[in-house]
Amino acid sequence: MHVQGMDSLAQIDQAVSVCTDCPLSRSRSRAVPGEGPEKAEVMFIGEAPGFNEDKQGRPFVGAAGHFLEELLASVGFRREDVYITNTVKCRPLNNRDPLPVEMAACRKYLDRQIELISPKVIVTLGRHSLVAFLPRETISKARGRPRSVNGVTIFPMFHPAAALHQQNLRQVIQEDIKKLPPLLKELSLPQEKAGGEQLSMF
Ligand code: URA
Ligand code: SF4
Repeated sequence: MHVQGMDSLAQIDQAVSVCTDCPLSRSRSRAVPGEGPEKAEVMFIGEAPGFNEDKQGRPFVGAAGHFLEELLASVGFRREDVYITNTVKCRPLNNRDPLPVEMAACRKYLDRQIELISPKVIVTLGRHSLVAFLPRETISKARGRPRSVNGVTIFPMFHPAAALHQQNLRQVIQEDIKKLPPLLKELSLPQEKAGGEQLSMF
């Protein structure tokens, strides 16, 4: 869908910063559009801004963000190499789950970000981000297995906030992120070579 006036990431940021299209606008301090290069090959999509994100207007700047940066570093990425955003751009009070109606109202921004960035891989973080792309999946089954949805490769992972304090999930997310570099490499192969065997190594 083409949304009028959102022809660059900067214009999306601007639209998000003044958006009042759902009730989350009333309790936010700052909207959190997302950040990263327009040419990013990988997009990470979390759930929603939390306390620190709402204060700073930047995604993943609290404890979960610190762990995400650690995970990125373990596979040779810096935060600045990837695009990071959320399914909703404003914080739900008390960090409650975003409501379907809020996710629906905010979806136009996420869709336009994906269109403009055209990433090779979208990493969904947690259940809410997963079901935004694969509504019938459960996180425990879907995690760690990339698949193509409308021409984009979706790679579901646990949410770093959940994995941070649960040793078993932490190990899983640390293993799952290691699949990202080989996945990107495989997706970079010329089409003829990859052909029907795309994602063969998974
Ligand atoms: N958790 C999220 O899902 N997103 C953030 O930006 C921060 C924490
Ligand atoms: Fe607008 Fe999204 Fe914020 Fe709701 S969450 S007010 S739709 S930017």
